[in-house]
Amino acid sequence: MKKILIINGPNLNMLGKRDPAVYGKETYDDLLNMIGEKASELGVKAEVFQSNHEGALVDRIQDALADGTDALIINAGAYTHYSYAIRDALEILSIPKIEIHISDVDNREEFRRHSVITEVCTSRIIGMGTQGYLKAMEEVLK
Ligand code: DQA
Repeated sequence: MKKILIINGPNLNMLGKRDPAVYGKETYDDLLNMIGEKASELGVKAEVFQSNHEGALVDRIQDALADGTDALIINAGAYTHYSYAIRDALEILSIPKIEIHISDVDNREEFRRHSVITEVCTSRIIGMGTQGYLKAMEEVLK
């Protein structure tokens, strides 16, 4: 069975409590349930890792080199915009990698328009709400 690793960065655990007009009403647990259901539908294993800490995210990306991960989906949260450490960790990992954002980052504040991880990811999904994770799961193993 193929394994998809889904990594969520800082503040994504606050889904449901965080600006619903931008991030939607679903809670983080709702997101985990949606991902679990999609994984069964697709016949894949999906592991979700969330951390508010940059180093923990780097460690988890590095561990994916040798833990049987076939594909990666990452919402690095605000680290997207400035973490060269996460960028460099992703660069080492040569599996399909999708960058995802719940909100339409290209049409929000100026600082959100720049991503330092886009160039080391295979593709990018933005502005689809939490449904974007499901689309990413469909696409990442194609
Ligand atoms: C986000 C967008 C980022 O700018 C923000 O810092 C987040 C969430 C998104 O999913 O839309 O934490 O990655």
